[in-house]
Amino acid sequence: MISSSSFCAFLLTLLIVSALSYATAIRRYPYFSVPDVDDLQGRQPIQTQRAFNIAHRGSNGEIPEATAEAFLRAIDEGADFIETDITATKDGRLICFHDLILDDTTDVADHAEFQDRIHTYEDEGKNVTGYFAVDFTLDELKTLRARQRFMFRDQSFNGKFQIITFEEFISIALNATRVVGIYPEIKSPVFINQHVKWPDGKRHEDIFVETLLKNGYKGTYLSDEWRRQPLFIQSFAPTSLIYSSSLTNSPLILLIDDLTMPTQDTNQTYAEITSDEYLQYISKFVVGIGPAKDTIVPPDANNYLKLPTDLVPRAHAHNLQVHPYTFRNEYGYLHYDFHQDPFQEYIYWIHTICVDGLFTDFTGSLHLYQEWTSPL
Ligand SMILES: *[C@@H]1O[C@H](CO)[C@@H](O)[C@H](O)[C@H]1NC(C)=O
Ligand SMILES: *[C@@H]1O[C@H](CO)[C@@H](O)[C@H](O)[C@H]1NC(C)=O
Ligand SMILES: *[C@@H]1O[C@H](CO)[C@@H](O)[C@H](O)[C@H]1NC(C)=O
Repeated sequence: MISSSSFCAFLLTLLIVSALSYATAIRRYPYFSVPDVDDLQGRQPIQTQRAFNIAHRGSNGEIPEATAEAFLRAIDEGADFIETDITATKDGRLICFHDLILDDTTDVADHAEFQDRIHTYEDEGKNVTGYFAVDFTLDELKTLRARQRFMFRDQSFNGKFQIITFEEFISIALNATRVVGIYPEIKSPVFINQHVKWPDGKRHEDIFVETLLKNGYKGTYLSDEWRRQPLFIQSFAPTSLIYSSSLTNSPLILLIDDLTMPTQDTNQTYAEITSDEYLQYISKFVVGIGPAKDTIVPPDANNYLKLPTDLVPRAHAHNLQVHPYTFRNEYGYLHYDFHQDPFQEYIYWIHTICVDGLFTDFTGSLHLYQEWTSPL
Protein backbone atom coordinates (compact mmCIF):
# COMPACT_ATOMS: atom_id res chain seq x y z
CA MET A 1 0.00 0.00 0.00
CA ILE A 2 1.21 3.51 -0.70
CA SER A 3 0.05 6.25 1.63
CA SER A 4 -2.13 8.96 0.18
CA SER A 5 0.53 11.62 0.74
CA SER A 6 3.21 9.69 -1.14
CA PHE A 7 0.59 8.95 -3.79
CA CYS A 8 -0.06 12.69 -4.17
CA ALA A 9 3.66 13.38 -4.31
CA PHE A 10 3.89 10.79 -7.08
CA LEU A 11 1.09 12.48 -9.02
CA LEU A 12 2.73 15.88 -8.58
CA THR A 13 6.05 14.51 -9.80
CA LEU A 14 4.33 13.05 -12.84
CA LEU A 15 2.73 16.40 -13.58
CA ILE A 16 6.02 18.26 -13.26
CA VAL A 17 7.91 15.71 -15.32
CA SER A 18 5.37 15.81 -18.13
CA ALA A 19 5.26 19.63 -18.10
CA LEU A 20 9.06 19.76 -18.32
CA SER A 21 9.35 17.16 -21.02
CA TYR A 22 6.76 19.04 -23.05
CA ALA A 23 8.65 22.32 -22.70
CA THR A 24 11.83 20.74 -24.05
CA ALA A 25 10.01 18.76 -26.74
CA ILE A 26 8.73 21.70 -28.81
CA ARG A 27 10.74 21.90 -31.99
CA ARG A 28 11.42 24.93 -34.11
CA TYR A 29 10.40 25.13 -37.76
CA PRO A 30 11.35 23.87 -40.23
CA TYR A 31 11.50 20.21 -39.30
CA PHE A 32 14.51 18.13 -40.11
CA SER A 33 14.91 15.39 -42.65
CA VAL A 34 14.43 11.74 -41.77
CA PRO A 35 17.31 10.46 -39.63
CA ASP A 36 19.46 7.56 -40.78
CA VAL A 37 17.73 4.41 -39.52
CA ASP A 38 21.02 2.68 -38.80
CA ASP A 39 21.64 4.80 -35.75
CA LEU A 40 18.34 3.80 -34.12
CA GLN A 41 19.79 0.76 -32.34
CA GLY A 42 19.71 0.31 -28.60
CA ARG A 43 16.43 2.09 -28.02
CA GLN A 44 13.64 0.77 -25.81
CA PRO A 45 11.62 -1.57 -28.06
CA ILE A 46 7.92 -1.27 -28.69
CA GLN A 47 5.90 -3.22 -26.11
CA THR A 48 3.75 -6.04 -27.44
CA GLN A 49 2.51 -7.46 -24.12
CA ARG A 50 -0.50 -5.24 -23.59
CA ALA A 51 -3.10 -3.48 -25.73
CA PHE A 52 -1.51 -0.88 -27.98
CA ASN A 53 -1.81 2.75 -26.96
CA ILE A 54 -2.62 4.43 -30.28
CA ALA A 55 -2.36 8.22 -30.02
CA HIS A 56 -5.28 9.39 -32.16
CA ARG A 57 -4.04 12.37 -34.23
CA GLY A 58 -1.38 12.77 -31.52
CA SER A 59 -2.44 13.94 -28.08
CA ASN A 60 -5.26 15.82 -29.73
CA GLY A 61 -7.25 16.00 -26.49
CA GLU A 62 -4.68 18.56 -25.42
CA ILE A 63 -3.04 20.02 -28.53
CA PRO A 64 -4.50 20.81 -31.98
CA GLU A 65 -4.75 17.53 -33.89
CA ALA A 66 -2.13 16.11 -36.26
CA THR A 67 0.47 18.78 -35.51
CA ALA A 68 4.09 17.94 -34.70
CA GLU A 69 3.46 19.23 -31.20
CA ALA A 70 0.49 16.88 -30.70
CA PHE A 71 2.60 13.90 -31.85
CA LEU A 72 5.57 14.90 -29.66
CA ARG A 73 3.28 15.26 -26.65
CA ALA A 74 1.87 11.78 -27.34
CA ILE A 75 5.38 10.31 -27.49
CA ASP A 76 6.26 12.00 -24.20
CA GLU A 77 3.08 10.57 -22.69
CA GLY A 78 3.86 6.97 -23.65
CA ALA A 79 2.19 6.29 -27.02
CA ASP A 80 3.05 2.96 -28.65
CA PHE A 81 1.87 4.37 -31.99
CA ILE A 82 1.25 7.87 -33.26
CA GLU A 83 -1.80 7.89 -35.51
CA THR A 84 -2.73 10.22 -38.34
CA ASP A 85 -4.85 10.59 -41.45
CA ILE A 86 -2.97 11.17 -44.69
CA THR A 87 -4.51 13.30 -47.45
CA ALA A 88 -2.88 15.16 -50.32
CA THR A 89 -2.31 18.70 -51.56
CA LYS A 90 -2.99 20.18 -55.00
CA ASP A 91 0.68 19.64 -55.86
CA GLY A 92 0.53 15.99 -54.81
CA ARG A 93 2.30 16.19 -51.44
CA LEU A 94 1.02 13.96 -48.65
CA ILE A 95 0.00 15.72 -45.44
CA CYS A 96 -1.23 14.79 -41.98
CA PHE A 97 -4.80 16.05 -41.94
CA HIS A 98 -8.13 14.51 -41.03
CA ASP A 99 -10.82 16.52 -42.80
CA LEU A 100 -11.07 17.14 -46.52
CA ILE A 101 -11.76 20.79 -45.67
CA LEU A 102 -9.56 23.14 -43.69
CA ASP A 103 -12.38 25.10 -42.08
CA ASP A 104 -12.76 23.35 -38.71
CA THR A 105 -9.13 22.89 -37.65
CA THR A 106 -7.16 25.79 -39.20
CA ASP A 107 -7.30 29.59 -39.42
CA VAL A 108 -7.93 29.52 -43.21
CA ALA A 109 -10.99 31.78 -42.87
CA ASP A 110 -8.74 34.56 -41.55
CA HIS A 111 -6.61 34.51 -44.73
CA ALA A 112 -8.02 37.13 -47.13
CA GLU A 113 -5.76 35.85 -49.91
CA PHE A 114 -7.59 32.51 -49.96
CA GLN A 115 -11.17 33.80 -49.89
CA ASP A 116 -11.84 32.68 -53.47
CA ARG A 117 -10.90 29.08 -52.71
CA ILE A 118 -14.25 28.01 -51.27
CA HIS A 119 -15.71 25.18 -53.33
CA THR A 120 -18.44 22.56 -53.19
CA TYR A 121 -17.47 18.99 -54.00
CA GLU A 122 -19.31 15.74 -53.62
CA ASP A 123 -17.81 13.21 -51.21
CA GLU A 124 -19.40 9.88 -50.30
CA GLY A 125 -22.79 10.95 -51.63
CA LYS A 126 -22.88 14.36 -49.92
CA ASN A 127 -22.10 17.85 -51.12
CA VAL A 128 -19.50 19.49 -48.89
CA THR A 129 -18.66 23.21 -49.06
CA GLY A 130 -15.47 24.74 -47.70
CA TYR A 131 -11.76 25.30 -48.27
CA PHE A 132 -10.52 21.95 -49.55
CA ALA A 133 -6.89 21.02 -48.89
CA VAL A 134 -6.73 19.54 -52.42
CA ASP A 135 -7.12 23.12 -53.78
CA PHE A 136 -3.99 24.34 -51.93
CA THR A 137 -0.31 23.73 -52.57
CA LEU A 138 1.86 22.58 -49.70
CA ASP A 139 3.55 26.02 -49.55
CA GLU A 140 0.15 27.67 -49.19
CA LEU A 141 -0.96 25.22 -46.49
CA LYS A 142 2.23 25.90 -44.55
CA THR A 143 1.09 29.54 -44.11
CA LEU A 144 -1.99 28.35 -42.18
CA ARG A 145 -2.02 27.59 -38.46
CA ALA A 146 -3.88 24.81 -36.69
CA ARG A 147 -6.85 25.27 -34.37
CA GLN A 148 -8.37 23.00 -31.74
CA ARG A 149 -11.43 21.26 -33.24
CA PHE A 150 -13.57 21.24 -30.08
CA MET A 151 -14.55 24.40 -28.18
CA PHE A 152 -14.52 22.51 -24.87
CA ARG A 153 -10.79 21.80 -25.21
CA ASP A 154 -7.75 24.01 -24.59
CA GLN A 155 -7.77 26.88 -27.13
CA SER A 156 -4.43 28.36 -26.05
CA PHE A 157 -2.44 26.62 -28.80
CA ASN A 158 -4.60 28.01 -31.61
CA GLY A 159 -2.66 29.89 -34.27
CA LYS A 160 0.72 28.46 -33.25
CA PHE A 161 1.37 25.23 -35.13
CA GLN A 162 1.52 24.34 -38.81
CA ILE A 163 0.24 21.47 -40.91
CA ILE A 164 2.97 18.85 -41.40
CA THR A 165 3.79 16.43 -44.20
CA PHE A 166 3.75 12.63 -44.02
CA GLU A 167 7.56 12.70 -44.12
CA GLU A 168 7.76 15.14 -41.22
CA PHE A 169 5.43 12.84 -39.26
CA ILE A 170 7.69 9.87 -40.03
CA SER A 171 10.77 11.81 -38.94
CA ILE A 172 9.14 12.57 -35.58
CA ALA A 173 8.54 8.85 -34.94
CA LEU A 174 11.99 7.79 -36.13
CA ASN A 175 13.64 10.46 -34.03
CA ALA A 176 12.02 9.40 -30.75
CA THR A 177 14.40 8.13 -28.07
CA ARG A 178 12.48 4.84 -27.86
CA VAL A 179 10.84 2.85 -30.66
CA VAL A 180 7.52 4.50 -31.49
CA GLY A 181 5.31 3.04 -34.20
CA ILE A 182 3.27 4.89 -36.80
CA TYR A 183 -0.36 4.25 -37.70
CA PRO A 184 -1.18 6.29 -40.83
CA GLU A 185 -4.54 6.14 -42.63
CA ILE A 186 -4.98 6.19 -46.39
CA LYS A 187 -7.68 8.82 -46.00
CA SER A 188 -10.58 9.18 -48.44
CA PRO A 189 -8.75 7.50 -51.33
CA VAL A 190 -11.76 7.76 -53.66
CA PHE A 191 -11.99 11.55 -53.23
CA ILE A 192 -8.23 12.14 -53.25
CA ASN A 193 -7.78 10.11 -56.45
CA GLN A 194 -10.54 12.15 -58.11
CA HIS A 195 -8.99 15.52 -57.22
CA VAL A 196 -5.22 15.01 -57.12
CA LYS A 197 -3.24 13.79 -60.11
CA TRP A 198 0.26 12.32 -59.88
CA PRO A 199 2.67 11.61 -62.76
CA ASP A 200 2.40 8.23 -64.52
CA GLY A 201 -1.19 7.77 -63.33
CA LYS A 202 -0.05 6.95 -59.80
CA ARG A 203 -2.67 6.82 -57.06
CA HIS A 204 -2.86 8.06 -53.47
CA GLU A 205 -2.12 4.50 -52.33
CA ASP A 206 1.02 4.30 -54.53
CA ILE A 207 2.50 7.54 -53.21
CA PHE A 208 1.53 6.60 -49.65
CA VAL A 209 3.25 3.19 -49.78
CA GLU A 210 6.27 4.59 -51.68
CA THR A 211 6.79 7.12 -48.87
CA LEU A 212 6.75 4.34 -46.29
CA LEU A 213 9.11 2.08 -48.24
CA LYS A 214 11.48 4.96 -48.95
CA ASN A 215 11.74 5.54 -45.21
CA GLY A 216 12.41 1.91 -44.33
CA TYR A 217 8.92 0.81 -43.27
CA LYS A 218 8.43 -2.80 -44.33
CA GLY A 219 8.04 -6.27 -42.92
CA THR A 220 5.19 -8.40 -41.67
CA TYR A 221 3.70 -7.95 -38.21
CA LEU A 222 6.28 -8.72 -35.47
CA SER A 223 9.10 -9.39 -37.97
CA ASP A 224 12.50 -7.88 -37.08
CA GLU A 225 11.96 -5.14 -39.66
CA TRP A 226 8.57 -4.37 -38.17
CA ARG A 227 9.93 -4.23 -34.61
CA ARG A 228 12.56 -1.77 -35.74
CA GLN A 229 9.98 0.51 -37.39
CA PRO A 230 6.50 -0.60 -36.28
CA LEU A 231 3.66 0.29 -38.64
CA PHE A 232 -0.03 -0.36 -39.18
CA ILE A 233 -1.63 0.99 -42.36
CA GLN A 234 -5.33 1.70 -41.94
CA SER A 235 -8.21 2.52 -44.27
CA PHE A 236 -12.01 2.54 -44.39
CA ALA A 237 -11.82 1.55 -48.08
CA PRO A 238 -11.46 -2.23 -48.50
CA THR A 239 -10.45 -2.19 -52.17
CA SER A 240 -7.81 0.41 -51.38
CA LEU A 241 -6.32 -1.86 -48.70
CA ILE A 242 -6.41 -4.90 -50.95
CA TYR A 243 -4.60 -2.91 -53.63
CA SER A 244 -2.04 -1.69 -51.05
CA SER A 245 -1.40 -5.28 -49.96
CA SER A 246 0.10 -5.84 -53.42
CA LEU A 247 2.58 -2.99 -52.81
CA THR A 248 3.82 -3.81 -49.30
CA ASN A 249 3.94 -6.65 -46.78
CA SER A 250 3.33 -4.28 -43.84
CA PRO A 251 0.31 -5.06 -41.64
CA LEU A 252 -3.02 -3.51 -42.67
CA ILE A 253 -6.09 -2.65 -40.59
CA LEU A 254 -9.61 -2.35 -42.04
CA LEU A 255 -11.55 0.42 -40.33
CA ILE A 256 -15.26 -0.14 -39.67
CA ASP A 257 -17.67 2.79 -39.50
CA ASP A 258 -21.31 2.87 -38.45
CA LEU A 259 -22.75 -0.46 -39.64
CA THR A 260 -25.57 1.08 -41.68
CA MET A 261 -23.17 3.16 -43.80
CA PRO A 262 -21.87 2.07 -47.20
CA THR A 263 -18.10 1.97 -47.74
CA GLN A 264 -16.71 4.66 -50.07
CA ASP A 265 -15.35 2.21 -52.64
CA THR A 266 -17.81 -0.70 -52.76
CA ASN A 267 -21.58 -0.87 -52.57
CA GLN A 268 -21.42 -2.89 -49.37
CA THR A 269 -22.39 -1.54 -45.97
CA TYR A 270 -20.06 -1.98 -43.00
CA ALA A 271 -22.60 -4.50 -41.65
CA GLU A 272 -21.99 -6.61 -44.76
CA ILE A 273 -18.22 -6.38 -44.43
CA THR A 274 -18.30 -7.60 -40.84
CA SER A 275 -20.04 -10.88 -41.75
CA ASP A 276 -18.11 -14.06 -40.93
CA GLU A 277 -17.74 -14.76 -44.62
CA TYR A 278 -16.25 -11.34 -45.27
CA LEU A 279 -13.94 -11.45 -42.22
CA GLN A 280 -12.65 -14.80 -43.45
CA TYR A 281 -11.99 -13.25 -46.88
CA ILE A 282 -10.38 -10.00 -45.67
CA SER A 283 -8.16 -11.82 -43.14
CA LYS A 284 -6.03 -12.85 -46.13
CA PHE A 285 -5.10 -9.17 -46.54
CA VAL A 286 -5.34 -7.50 -43.13
CA VAL A 287 -4.14 -8.29 -39.60
CA GLY A 288 -7.03 -6.59 -37.89
CA ILE A 289 -10.04 -4.34 -37.85
CA GLY A 290 -10.51 -0.88 -36.36
CA PRO A 291 -14.21 -0.54 -35.54
CA ALA A 292 -16.08 2.43 -34.12
CA LYS A 293 -16.69 1.56 -30.44
CA ASP A 294 -20.47 1.60 -30.88
CA THR A 295 -20.33 -1.26 -33.39
CA ILE A 296 -18.85 -3.43 -30.61
CA VAL A 297 -20.93 -2.22 -27.67
CA PRO A 298 -23.89 -0.11 -28.80
CA PRO A 299 -25.23 2.51 -26.39
CA ASP A 300 -28.92 2.92 -25.62
CA ALA A 301 -30.94 6.13 -25.83
CA ASN A 302 -30.10 6.95 -22.19
CA ASN A 303 -26.33 6.80 -22.72
CA TYR A 304 -25.91 3.41 -21.04
CA LEU A 305 -24.27 0.53 -22.86
CA LYS A 306 -26.27 -2.40 -24.19
CA LEU A 307 -24.81 -5.91 -24.40
CA PRO A 308 -21.70 -6.30 -26.58
CA THR A 309 -22.16 -7.62 -30.12
CA ASP A 310 -20.20 -10.71 -31.14
CA LEU A 311 -17.85 -8.70 -33.39
CA VAL A 312 -14.74 -9.03 -31.18
CA PRO A 313 -14.96 -12.82 -30.64
CA ARG A 314 -15.75 -13.33 -34.34
CA ALA A 315 -12.79 -11.17 -35.42
CA HIS A 316 -10.50 -12.99 -32.97
CA ALA A 317 -11.75 -16.33 -34.34
CA HIS A 318 -10.45 -15.20 -37.73
CA ASN A 319 -7.11 -14.27 -36.14
CA LEU A 320 -7.82 -10.56 -36.54
CA GLN A 321 -6.80 -7.97 -33.98
CA VAL A 322 -9.39 -5.40 -32.88
CA HIS A 323 -8.39 -1.75 -32.34
CA PRO A 324 -11.54 0.29 -31.65
CA TYR A 325 -11.85 4.11 -31.82
CA THR A 326 -12.12 6.66 -30.16
CA PHE A 327 -11.49 6.85 -26.41
CA ARG A 328 -12.02 10.31 -24.92
CA ASN A 329 -11.88 11.39 -21.30
CA GLU A 330 -14.59 13.98 -21.51
CA TYR A 331 -18.06 13.85 -20.02
CA GLY A 332 -19.82 13.95 -23.40
CA TYR A 333 -18.10 10.77 -24.58
CA LEU A 334 -18.22 8.62 -21.45
CA HIS A 335 -21.20 6.30 -21.12
CA TYR A 336 -22.88 6.51 -17.72
CA ASP A 337 -21.83 2.92 -16.92
CA PHE A 338 -18.33 4.29 -16.31
CA HIS A 339 -19.29 6.83 -13.64
CA GLN A 340 -17.52 9.61 -15.57
CA ASP A 341 -14.23 7.79 -15.01
CA PRO A 342 -12.07 7.08 -18.09
CA PHE A 343 -10.10 4.42 -16.15
CA GLN A 344 -13.34 2.45 -15.69
CA GLU A 345 -13.89 2.64 -19.42
CA TYR A 346 -10.39 1.25 -20.05
CA ILE A 347 -10.95 -1.54 -17.49
CA TYR A 348 -14.08 -2.61 -19.37
CA TRP A 349 -12.63 -2.46 -22.89
CA ILE A 350 -9.27 -4.02 -22.08
CA HIS A 351 -10.31 -6.71 -19.60
CA THR A 352 -13.94 -7.52 -20.48
CA ILE A 353 -14.10 -6.83 -24.21
CA CYS A 354 -10.43 -7.84 -24.69
CA VAL A 355 -9.43 -5.43 -27.45
CA ASP A 356 -5.88 -5.44 -28.79
CA GLY A 357 -5.34 -1.71 -29.16
CA LEU A 358 -7.21 1.53 -28.45
CA PHE A 359 -7.34 4.79 -30.38
CA THR A 360 -7.32 7.47 -27.70
CA ASP A 361 -7.38 11.27 -27.71
CA PHE A 362 -5.69 11.09 -24.27
CA THR A 363 -2.64 8.87 -24.58
CA GLY A 364 -1.39 10.01 -21.17
CA SER A 365 -4.47 8.62 -19.39
CA LEU A 366 -4.31 5.24 -21.12
CA HIS A 367 -0.58 5.01 -20.46
CA LEU A 368 -0.99 5.82 -16.77
CA TYR A 369 -3.78 3.23 -16.50
CA GLN A 370 -1.63 0.55 -18.12
CA GLU A 371 1.45 1.40 -16.09
CA TRP A 372 -0.55 0.93 -12.90
CA THR A 373 -2.47 -2.19 -13.91
CA SER A 374 -0.03 -4.05 -16.17
CA PRO A 375 3.48 -2.64 -15.77
CA LEU A 376 6.00 -4.05 -18.23
C1 LIG B 1 15.65 14.80 -33.45
O1 LIG B 1 16.23 14.80 -32.15
C2 LIG B 1 17.31 15.69 -32.01
C3 LIG B 1 17.95 15.46 -30.65
O2 LIG B 1 16.97 15.35 -29.63
C4 LIG B 1 16.80 17.11 -32.20
O3 LIG B 1 17.86 18.03 -32.12
C5 LIG B 1 16.11 17.23 -33.57
O4 LIG B 1 15.50 18.47 -33.68
C6 LIG B 1 15.06 16.15 -33.73
N1 LIG B 1 14.49 16.15 -35.06
C7 LIG B 1 13.17 15.97 -35.28
C8 LIG B 1 12.76 15.89 -36.70
O5 LIG B 1 12.36 15.86 -34.40
C1 LIG C 1 -24.36 18.41 -55.41
O1 LIG C 1 -24.57 19.62 -56.07
C2 LIG C 1 -24.66 19.50 -57.49
C3 LIG C 1 -24.73 20.90 -58.07
O2 LIG C 1 -25.69 21.67 -57.43
C4 LIG C 1 -25.86 18.65 -57.85
O3 LIG C 1 -25.93 18.47 -59.24
C5 LIG C 1 -25.70 17.29 -57.17
O4 LIG C 1 -26.84 16.50 -57.40
C6 LIG C 1 -25.50 17.45 -55.68
N1 LIG C 1 -25.21 16.16 -55.09
C7 LIG C 1 -25.76 15.72 -53.95
C8 LIG C 1 -25.34 14.39 -53.48
O5 LIG C 1 -26.59 16.37 -53.32
C1 LIG D 1 -22.55 0.95 -56.86
O1 LIG D 1 -23.87 0.86 -57.42
C2 LIG D 1 -24.16 1.89 -58.36
C3 LIG D 1 -25.63 1.78 -58.74
O2 LIG D 1 -26.00 0.44 -58.90
C4 LIG D 1 -23.21 1.74 -59.56
O3 LIG D 1 -23.46 2.75 -60.49
C5 LIG D 1 -21.77 1.87 -59.05
O4 LIG D 1 -20.87 1.64 -60.10
C6 LIG D 1 -21.49 0.86 -57.94
N1 LIG D 1 -20.19 1.13 -57.37
C7 LIG D 1 -19.31 0.19 -57.07
C8 LIG D 1 -18.02 0.66 -56.51
O5 LIG D 1 -19.52 -0.99 -57.24
